[in-house]
Amino acid sequence: MEKVATLLLFGATGDLARRMLLPSLYGLDADGLLPADLRIVGTARTELSTEEYRERALEALQQHLPDGFYHAAVAEKFLARLSYIAVDATRLEDFPKLADAVGKCDSGLAIFLSTAPSLFKPTIDGLASVGLACADVRMALEKPLGSDLASSRQINDAVAAHFPEERTFRIDHYLGKETVQNLLALRFANSLFEPLWNSSHIDHIQITVAETVGLEGRGDYYDGAGALRDMVQNHMLQLLALVAMEPPAGLDATSVRDEKVKVLRSLRPMTLADTVIGQFGKGAIDGEPVPSYDEELGRDSQTETFVALKAHVDNWRWKDVPFYLRTGKRMPVRDSEIYIQFKAVPYDIFARRGAVSRPNSLLISLQPEETISLELMAKTPGLGRDGVRLRDVPLNLGLANAFSEYRRRIAYERLLLDLIEGDPTLFVRRDEVEAQWAWIDEIRAGWTAAGVTPKPYAAGTWGPSSAIALAERDGVSWHE
Ligand code: BG6
Repeated sequence: MEKVATLLLFGATGDLARRMLLPSLYGLDADGLLPADLRIVGTARTELSTEEYRERALEALQQHLPDGFYHAAVAEKFLARLSYIAVDATRLEDFPKLADAVGKCDSGLAIFLSTAPSLFKPTIDGLASVGLACADVRMALEKPLGSDLASSRQINDAVAAHFPEERTFRIDHYLGKETVQNLLALRFANSLFEPLWNSSHIDHIQITVAETVGLEGRGDYYDGAGALRDMVQNHMLQLLALVAMEPPAGLDATSVRDEKVKVLRSLRPMTLADTVIGQFGKGAIDGEPVPSYDEELGRDSQTETFVALKAHVDNWRWKDVPFYLRTGKRMPVRDSEIYIQFKAVPYDIFARRGAVSRPNSLLISLQPEETISLELMAKTPGLGRDGVRLRDVPLNLGLANAFSEYRRRIAYERLLLDLIEGDPTLFVRRDEVEAQWAWIDEIRAGWTAAGVTPKPYAAGTWGPSSAIALAERDGVSWHE
């Protein structure tokens, strides 16, 4: 199968479908990127007619599309692609009607599981029972792909029993973000950085994913996961792998993922002293009071909503270069960034004239704005009778301005298009996801053995003070 004729979406009434998947498919349709005859079959447990589902989908588009992007005529054409069948994935007897609706296994079928992972195996069993699990199908899986290495292996085994790895599309939506893909361009389409991209020239790297939101009604899932498994295991380790990997042989899926997995396998096991966890208490974001995690959840919990780590990639390129990672809910601002600090000049000739020269840094900002900025030292204008003054000034590549004629896309647009076109490069391969879990499991085992519990931090702050200390004890300040 090369051409996808039917996209079968499990979890079609869920939050992700409403906020991201339907708007993304609409966006692709609006740009003429969906196959002309593509049908989208939504399924979930809720009993709905196709008409009722289309009404819900319309509401989702009106609510979640960027301002000015909704057009009634495009929506009408898009909604006509949608149909709906209620299926309880735990009941085998529900699957024959699905088979009637989507046709045969080799008829160009892509399946997207946007459900709880506990439903992955029953869904695959149900599909197999009606002959819809075969090597012709493309199978996309939304996170979380398990809660540890063992459960992730179970999911991977259940999938591999029917679908070959090259047709398994494990989603990490960060890989669909434009700036994340831009990392490859920045590193490997410019000759400037690669000679400096190693332990001889880089002092340390920081990766921050800060969110202002709290639980957003996802308490049941989040409280069982926590920040380490929700954000570090997937998104942050993918960012780290892209920053740290060797130049791939090409841009094909095998070459890129071979290099990422080598980084993930080179992660040094963490020591307790290099981890900090926190949980937000009451506080304020943008001047508005917000409740504590326990209040939002409605019960007492020891789940971490913040984690900071000092990691190392033990290989030739990154020997002794710390990678400081931090992520948290209810931080003061929404900000995802990679900050690369180069080493200081070997000898500072300006120091004798009273000037302070700071090391260069490269800031790759993913959101809210997509920017890449190189901080360089420059002389402050003036005659300088009282000495020379230096200041760091940004050499700023505002991607939004440079590419203002392009629409900023939802990450899922890229990923859904790649699923439909059959390109797995931006999806996570089994060995990657298992290497990620192996590293995360060890961290969690260390916390459990030592009885580590999260330290409180006020909502609207940058986590517990020990997270600041984690960097400061090495003479490093978190970039803000
Ligand atoms: C999801 C996490 O994978 O990523 C959420 O489950 C988190 O907890 C979200 O809020 C962040 O994604 P983004 O694209 O808003 O940075």
